[in-house]
Amino acid sequence: MGKSLITGGHGFIGYYLAKLLLDEGEQVVLFDVAPESRLTKGIRDSVKIVHGDLGDWAQVLDVVKDDEIDCIYHAGALLPPVTEQYPAAAYAVNITGTFNVLEAARLFDVESVMYLSTLATFGRDVPPVVPNDASQRPPNMYGVTKVCSERLGEYYHARFGVNFRGIRFPPIIGMGRFDKAQSAYNYLAIQESAMGRPYTIYVDRSTTIALLYVKDAVLGLVALNKAEEGKLTRRVYNLYGFSATAQELVDTVRRYIPDAKIDFKPDQTMIRAVENLPQKLDDTLARRDWGWSPRYSLDSAVEDFIKEVRANRAISE
Ligand SMILES: NC(=O)c1ccc[n+]([C@@H]2O[C@H](COP(=O)([O-])OP(=O)(O)OC[C@H]3O[C@@H](n4cnc5c(N)ncnc54)[C@H](O)[C@@H]3O)[C@@H](O)[C@H]2O)c1
Repeated sequence: MGKSLITGGHGFIGYYLAKLLLDEGEQVVLFDVAPESRLTKGIRDSVKIVHGDLGDWAQVLDVVKDDEIDCIYHAGALLPPVTEQYPAAAYAVNITGTFNVLEAARLFDVESVMYLSTLATFGRDVPPVVPNDASQRPPNMYGVTKVCSERLGEYYHARFGVNFRGIRFPPIIGMGRFDKAQSAYNYLAIQESAMGRPYTIYVDRSTTIALLYVKDAVLGLVALNKAEEGKLTRRVYNLYGFSATAQELVDTVRRYIPDAKIDFKPDQTMIRAVENLPQKLDDTLARRDWGWSPRYSLDSAVEDFIKEVRANRAISE
């Protein structure tokens, strides 16, 4: 088995990805500007941890060279609202960071670079079910940095043969997410209820969003990495799990936690921010080219999420 580097390895998706790769017998190196995290504490003896900054070319180069990396899962990034408060930092981490990863992959013949992109690369000028090749005119800095990274990756593939592959994810839910992006109410409603705490949702009951369970997200990344090159017709693919209104989310949580204390206090600014996101992604090409199919529905994702929170209470304290 090979050696995988996960940038942003102490983060939410990095943690689940590391666990999946370890289960598959891979050697795993986590590269992160954070020295440690509540999430990866439990696996720190099974991985190598390298403390470094994606924006620092030499540090990225060093980890790829010194550890003889076969595959880079490039998950490290700044997310909203930080990207919108600090656009220069977003540029340095999300765009220069991707450039540094691609350069390191080119110089040291890394076998593949797997990129984590987002449905936030699409603006409002797209059809309700967003096709893989829809125009990408995002309304915020986060989306701009992710579109730019996708195009950089495609360029490095076309010009230098770097095996760049990416996935555009909808907002991902699961135990261990901590950010405050506009989609955060979805994971918080489940996490807080599982912890026995009340939670107030800041959108309308009818507000709808596309979602994916984190365990499906990392299965998708590993599957795309293993996909036969000859079958790929794109370098970046849309993935989609399920869509839910806020009320459907609450009803599902209450199926498992009947006394969950969730109420609504809609905030128009947050509603508009959520409505900027597409409600459904067309993942036909991922299904056709490399056999993508999500394992989790809203119901089974909520059930598993609650179990994970309760089995690892210290993470969500
Ligand atoms: N969480 C979602 O819903 C979602 C949806 C679509 C795409 N994505 C993408 O998936 C990736 C991972 O997201 P996440 O939810 O795990 O976020 P996260 O914030 O939990 O993890 C990101 C990690 O990147 C690290 N990081 C930040 N700046 C860095 C730097 N300069 N150098 C090295 N590491 C740095 C952070 O310390 C953190 O551990 C991101 O690229 C994000 O854009 C996430």
